[in-house]
Amino acid sequence: MILLEVQPAERVDAEALIVPVFEDRPETRFGAGGLAGEVTGKALEMTLLHHVTGVSAARVLLAGAGKAEKFTASEQRNLAGAAVRYLKLKSVTRMALALDPAFAAPEFAQAAIEGAILGDFDTDTYKTGEKKKTAESFAVAAEAGGEPLERAIERGRIIAEAQNAARALVNEPGNRLTPSGVAAAARQVAAEYGLECRVLEREEMAALGMRALLGVAQGSAEPPALVTLRYQPPGAPAEAHLGLVGKGVTFDSGGISIKPSDGMEKMKYDMAGGASAIGAMRAIAQLKPAISVTAFIPCVENMPGGRAQRPGDIVTAMSGKTIEVINTDAEGRLILADALTYARSLGCTHLVDVATLTGAIVVALGHLRAGLFASDDGLRDRVLRASQSAGERLWPMPLDEDYKDYLKSAPADLSNVGGRWGGAVTAAIFLKEFAADTPWAHLDIAGTAWVDEEKPHLAKGPTGFPVRTLVRLALDWEG
Ligand code: BES
Ligand code: MN
Ligand code: ZN
Repeated sequence: MILLEVQPAERVDAEALIVPVFEDRPETRFGAGGLAGEVTGKALEMTLLHHVTGVSAARVLLAGAGKAEKFTASEQRNLAGAAVRYLKLKSVTRMALALDPAFAAPEFAQAAIEGAILGDFDTDTYKTGEKKKTAESFAVAAEAGGEPLERAIERGRIIAEAQNAARALVNEPGNRLTPSGVAAAARQVAAEYGLECRVLEREEMAALGMRALLGVAQGSAEPPALVTLRYQPPGAPAEAHLGLVGKGVTFDSGGISIKPSDGMEKMKYDMAGGASAIGAMRAIAQLKPAISVTAFIPCVENMPGGRAQRPGDIVTAMSGKTIEVINTDAEGRLILADALTYARSLGCTHLVDVATLTGAIVVALGHLRAGLFASDDGLRDRVLRASQSAGERLWPMPLDEDYKDYLKSAPADLSNVGGRWGGAVTAAIFLKEFAADTPWAHLDIAGTAWVDEEKPHLAKGPTGFPVRTLVRLALDWEG
């Protein structure tokens, strides 16, 4: 239960009241006076007090907020998430956060709600014993209320719940979430939030000539699915139709170019791009931006079955281009190639694809930023701005024309791999061939879609990156 309580934080009824304390701004209220030295305000430092005089809540959690001058919505989000995770561990589940008077703008309330809901997510779905506690209620306590604050809180709830829904999908193992499973999940979102959902099956894809996608699917006993989710507001301007294209490989064994067994279990998260597109559509359906948005999620399982495609196979993509499949583990670009062509054929004017595409992007940027590639400066700037507002970090990467030489094939138009160097760039260059002249951006989220270690504000595992950016991109579109 998510609430706004317009009253002094001292009077809010909760098991714990979360109070941000700053490094450079001594706090004397809420029992924090006289604790200097013990309570430093350092980011995410937690101090739990009981029975504070003048405070209705049974406990006060002094939550380190760092330096006031550096406190942005991102810090607020992480603080709320870390506080929720801290309290859950102590079985405290009715919580409220005091909005600091200096940081009481709606965006801070939204970030607090987002952080709390994201922090509440855990990955113990399949534990049969006792599960981690979940928050029963979370309120934001503000001195003054109003429409904008109420709307921000609702927006935060919708976005964070959508992000958690994406995380839950990503966390599903390959045996429980197959391509048909992704399609079922998308249908359910469509039914619940009022979107149009269509799923292309193998025969329809064959009729459209999607041999690049089908080549990847043919090594698996699981049939492929190309999921589309459409949001079309009444009176939407015709000049813009945003296409979100998300990689939906429900398990990536590598195919015949099989991956080493060490760590292969993680390749269930190779549909994180697709899950983020579904999550974004769930929020978009509720927040109703003015622009038309369609998500395209090509779903396959990449397996080395007896009918699997071989290194050296040549496939003709829907666009008509021929591709020599040198490495069957470079499958993401093959399925995205046909999904991009399909999105263009349905009239998308701007394309943003999201994919756990390359290990090379992790080498380049680590786990903190995703790579952003774009054929169009305007779209690149829109995506960058959206990511900054949403508190998800991207970094612009190059797409010079002559990188295309790396993808030369003797017998076909293109090779599906570009050799040892610049792997994230050559993968992007490959996709660009299929985005053609449609303004296009590509987010390589291989490093950011999954965290290997638990964070104070986030469970270990799927992050739901970049749901918030995609939603923001649609909401802020304009013109
Ligand atoms: N799904 C992987 C990329 C990946 C790697 C995601 C690590 C998350 C973590 C992708 O399909 C892949 O296998 N890419 C290859 C491409 C190579 C064969 C050119 C890679 O990055 O090694
Ligand atoms: Mn692969
Ligand atoms: Zn993959």
